[in-house]
Amino acid sequence: MSQNSSPTALVVVAHHRSDSLTAHTARRAAARLQAAGYHIDLLDLHAEGFDPRMNAEDQPDWSNREKAYSKEVHAHMQRILDADVVVAVFPVYWQSVPALLKGWIDRVWNYGFAYGRSKPRLAGKRMLWLGLAGATADDPIAHGMRSVLEVGLSEGIAGYCGFSQSTVGLLLDAEERPQRVDAQGNLHVGDAAVGAEREAQYADFDRRTVQFVDDFLADEPAAA
Ligand SMILES: Cc1cc2nc3c(=O)[nH]c(=O)nc-3n(C[C@H](O)[C@H](O)[C@H](O)COP(=O)(O)O)c2cc1C
Repeated sequence: MSQNSSPTALVVVAHHRSDSLTAHTARRAAARLQAAGYHIDLLDLHAEGFDPRMNAEDQPDWSNREKAYSKEVHAHMQRILDADVVVAVFPVYWQSVPALLKGWIDRVWNYGFAYGRSKPRLAGKRMLWLGLAGATADDPIAHGMRSVLEVGLSEGIAGYCGFSQSTVGLLLDAEERPQRVDAQGNLHVGDAAVGAEREAQYADFDRRTVQFVDDFLADEPAAA
């Protein structure tokens, strides 16, 4: 909880362009969280110059759970500790998170902090992953993509680190022009929507974003 006792949402944006659909979606999600009473800590990894490359200073020391990592990483750890919910917004790259977000997890969700303790420090926190994907909703690839993201992110990362809840919201149809690859690897690209159709497409994208946030908030366990 933040000092003014409203809950805090750490909204992590992993995109290199501030005018991207991902950044827009992050702002949408943040506005919805704010309207629900959350204080927002917006962490734009690229704008803040976060370097996703692991380095010797932040490499785990398996013999020392109390290792002092870099100052930068400790500052990021504090932002996670100060948050009640963490919402990561990212483009799906190769059915996973982009390197920028993966590097933040590798370096910051480190041994002794996020895992490696009998009682996880992140226990009780909740996580929402909002992944924007170019695949269309009717692309057969979408089903497997959702599964692989849920297993990797919710089980492999958030669950492993003791988060009490982790949800993946997959936002399909993030490309301007619908495209899919057939069984032979041939790419088929459709026409971009224009005018009112395009407006409707983006309105629907926003609607799905808000729905994921609302469903996530509705899942919040009642206070003890
Ligand atoms: C390196 C790279 C890998 C991608 N991998 C996938 C993928 O595995 N599945 C998918 O549906 N879209 C994939 N895409 C499409 C992106 O998810 C899509 O372009 C992005 O979500 C659009 O949001 P943006 O405009 O904010 O970048 C990939 C794009 C790039 C650049």
